[in-house]
Amino acid sequence: MQAVTVEEFGSPQGLAVVELPDPSPSGGQLLIAIEAIGVGGVDALIRSGTLGDYGFTSGHVLGSEVAGAVTAVGEGVDPAWVGRRVWAFTGMGGYAEQVVTPVENVIALPEALSAAAAVTLGSSGMVAHFALRHVHFAPGESVLVRGAAGGIGVMAVQLAARSGASAVAVTTSSAERGDRLRELGATHVLDRAGRGPADAPAGYDVIIDIIAGPDLPTFFDKLEPNGRMVAVGAMGGWPPVDFGKEMVAGFKKSMSFATFSADTIAMSDRQAVTAELFAGAARGELKSVVHETLPLREAVVAHQRMAAGEVFGRMVLTP
Ligand SMILES: NC(=O)c1ccc[n+]([C@@H]2O[C@H](COP(=O)([O-])OP(=O)(O)OC[C@H]3O[C@@H](n4cnc5c(N)ncnc54)[C@H](OP(=O)(O)O)[C@@H]3O)[C@@H](O)[C@H]2O)c1
Repeated sequence: MQAVTVEEFGSPQGLAVVELPDPSPSGGQLLIAIEAIGVGGVDALIRSGTLGDYGFTSGHVLGSEVAGAVTAVGEGVDPAWVGRRVWAFTGMGGYAEQVVTPVENVIALPEALSAAAAVTLGSSGMVAHFALRHVHFAPGESVLVRGAAGGIGVMAVQLAARSGASAVAVTTSSAERGDRLRELGATHVLDRAGRGPADAPAGYDVIIDIIAGPDLPTFFDKLEPNGRMVAVGAMGGWPPVDFGKEMVAGFKKSMSFATFSADTIAMSDRQAVTAELFAGAARGELKSVVHETLPLREAVVAHQRMAAGEVFGRMVLTP
């Protein structure tokens, strides 16, 4: 089968189209003929080596979520799965024509939801959901989503707005993106540094931060008393080593800083929430934001688009 591997960690050109043996499912696994592959910021971070290579070596196959049709099952898996349209959290191995994955990682797709939509909102929506829960977001509170134009951000904006946030502010890099985020539920648009219109709230109860990087401590000033910030991603790199100083110096505001990783959520809980999000999207209550769909063999172009900052929502690859 055709697959795309990271031959050299660094620029998008380090990705290569290769032939790999067709996988076959072991006990407890399903084989999926892939129709759509979600391309996320985490793929870019692994490929670029920005946060270290995670122990991956040359020949690593990226791709943490896919959608397609089940073509075979391993021992112990109900054969009724064969032929079903599914979404799967694969963790890795998704940049390929086929993938095997444990049955626990698979969700049957509602008929009304396309494979591309599923890989666009599946993992991102689940992460956004649990990140909001992690910081105890409650209806009536104000939210700032830092890095809202990406896969996780567009879902965080929609979920916060639908859950009754009093304000949903976003940081983004252009007015055009701000307009698109307003259509998804944003109420105030700030620039990447957090500067925005005069009517934007001075402080927020919750900040969902997908960026981290050197500017992270400047956003502590944007927390209300008892405000909670959660670092969900690090698209801007690591924060300064002494970033905690600023938070402790502002201790009179009783602020909290947390990190969140979906790795700490049981797979069954992740899948239950993802299935609910799919049902919501199939009913038209949530929008999947596909920036562009490209053939798998053009994975380099997809990563170049991300590296150039051109992507709003998610890139999708199709084998
Ligand atoms: N916590 C978890 O369980 C979990 C799970 C999966 C992924 N992740 C993490 O989430 C991150 C990827 O999220 P994603 O796919 O939503 O991201 P993304 O789509 O690649 O990017 C998000 C947005 O951030 C802005 N941005 C990018 N680089 C920036 C920079 N240097 N400074 C300021 N803004 C920048 C861009 O918007 P503008 O140009 O409009 O500003 C971009 O659209 C990764 O760090 C990944 O490791 C976490």
